[in-house]
Amino acid sequence: TYVIKADSIKAHVKSTMYGIFFEDINMAADGGVYAELVKNRSFEFIPNLMGWTELNKSGEGNVEVINRAKERPENPHFITVNVKSGQYGLANEGFRGMGIKKGETYSFSVLARQHTGSKATLAVELKNAKGVVIGRGELKPDATDWKRYSVKFTAAATEEKGSLTLWAKNTGAIDLDMVSLFPEHTWKNRPGGLRADLVQKLADLKPGFLRFPGGCIVEGRELANRYQWKKSIGDIDKRENIINRWNMEFKHRLTTDYYQTFGLGFMEYFLTAEDIGAEPLPILNCGMACQFNTGQLAPMDELDPYLQDALDLIEFANGSSDTKWGKLRISLGHAKPFNLKLMGVGNEQWGEQYIERWKVFEKAIKAKYPYMKLVSSVGPDPDGEKFTFLNTTFRGLNADILDEHYYRSPQWFLDNVKRYDNYDRKGPKIFAGEYAAQSVAIASPDNKNNWQCAMSEAAFMTGLERNADVVNMASYAPLFAHVDGWQWTPDLIWFNNLGSYATPNYYVQQLYSLNKGTDVVPLTLNQAAVTGQDGAFASAVLDANTNELVIKFINTAKAAASVNFVVKGKKINSAGTITTLQNGDLAAVNSFSNMNAVSPKKQGIAVVSNNIKTVLKPYSFNVIRVKM
Ligand code: AHR
Repeated sequence: TYVIKADSIKAHVKSTMYGIFFEDINMAADGGVYAELVKNRSFEFIPNLMGWTELNKSGEGNVEVINRAKERPENPHFITVNVKSGQYGLANEGFRGMGIKKGETYSFSVLARQHTGSKATLAVELKNAKGVVIGRGELKPDATDWKRYSVKFTAAATEEKGSLTLWAKNTGAIDLDMVSLFPEHTWKNRPGGLRADLVQKLADLKPGFLRFPGGCIVEGRELANRYQWKKSIGDIDKRENIINRWNMEFKHRLTTDYYQTFGLGFMEYFLTAEDIGAEPLPILNCGMACQFNTGQLAPMDELDPYLQDALDLIEFANGSSDTKWGKLRISLGHAKPFNLKLMGVGNEQWGEQYIERWKVFEKAIKAKYPYMKLVSSVGPDPDGEKFTFLNTTFRGLNADILDEHYYRSPQWFLDNVKRYDNYDRKGPKIFAGEYAAQSVAIASPDNKNNWQCAMSEAAFMTGLERNADVVNMASYAPLFAHVDGWQWTPDLIWFNNLGSYATPNYYVQQLYSLNKGTDVVPLTLNQAAVTGQDGAFASAVLDANTNELVIKFINTAKAAASVNFVVKGKKINSAGTITTLQNGDLAAVNSFSNMNAVSPKKQGIAVVSNNIKTVLKPYSFNVIRVKM
């Protein structure tokens, strides 16, 4: 018998619970949520024709890569296609192919310039994997100055691994840059926007916050390739491409073609956060490159540009038209401030070097924007020396929010459900910023998003919920992974070029988020919190918005659990609902061929004299809601 004291509020659940961690890892941005289909559209990847193949058909010609670094340092390369006779072509392979949908309208655009005296035209062909044309358009770029040209056409067939061919026809020479292909239908139908199906999955989480842009890419392997938000806004042809920190050979998986084009930049992140009702949480580089790689440091007397980026970002997000950066935001189409209140200083940094840089940021940001709450990293290892040092130091410095990361075994998650029970209630708040149960070992390519991992996360999260006065934010990581281009597993959402599926872990996050309630109330067994007795983990909240009691109960045992929840202090209705996420096989996973192997099922549940008596399945996560 479990007792719930519905009239005894223990803590308030913050609106920021539960959120999203977004990083451009596993092709999450380029080749993923950013709907651009052309890979290396501005010829900045190395080699410059990566993703492109030259096609010579009934004629002679060639392609030259031109570097105009002096004139356009942020977008130095373009190509000249010379057609000596007939036509000369180039094919683009897309990001592991191009996902094309029958009946969808595609918008092709290019920056082009004719050489004097030439009259080259451009034919565009969309092809399926067998080379059959499934969409076509034609352009006649006539100007000898750079100009954007575009054409729309409808695809005649669906194809996961399509490609795009350009034919330059008529004798002459034509310069091309920013070769682009987008579906018309994007998230909110914004031209050149985001994949609607993938953003919808984020919206369906009803997240409390959106953390961006990472992760290690904030830091870069070296400082030159850190994420710089100012280079990620405005005209897309002026956003300087860099190599992605996750461009790598990972245990024989090749993603050595991974670059950041910043089509998904800070403006798009802020807009997405606003669209899905999440608080924006940008993480900024604090003068430290990834300490797992070069660990380069900006000298203390050269920290200014890093700090200025942080200060200017707050002005960009919140400033009025009287401010330089506020004016820029308004000119980009967003008059209303984004109401930024949270910012992370550094990602997974450690050591004295972090502390001294953090102090500079903290002092300057708080002096100018006292309302800002700063997120500080306490390192990648929740039990190690780095964590102890940072945790103690930041507590001494009265830091606002500490960002803890844990990629551990399912058993660790079960064993650590009481992790926050004894945290200092008056100290910094906790952001469980990156966590995921690893079925094999951290970053093993054999890790699976299986039910055992998801269930252990659900059990652990009862501890986050019970400690809502300390734990204010939490996010699973990483978020997205392309089935043909990932570096890290497990991940919350898997996608290909045409669609996506939610993992059991996604449904756990979603059930928590949709049922986060507003106030924690005690749920006990023999007057103790339910933290693993007979494999049971449980917590309860009230939802003041709907006037409901919400119970979460995870049965990690292989036998069914006969339970009786006795609700005291408030009268509850005679019927409610129970949503169950369950599978008898701990190894069960969702996949493209079986998307709902582990997915929530909802049904009614009876209440007799304020008692909810039921039998909960083995290996199950249950959410009961009853009106009061
Ligand atoms: O989520 C993958 C990586 O794990 C993140 O980039 C980093 O912060 C952590 O080490």
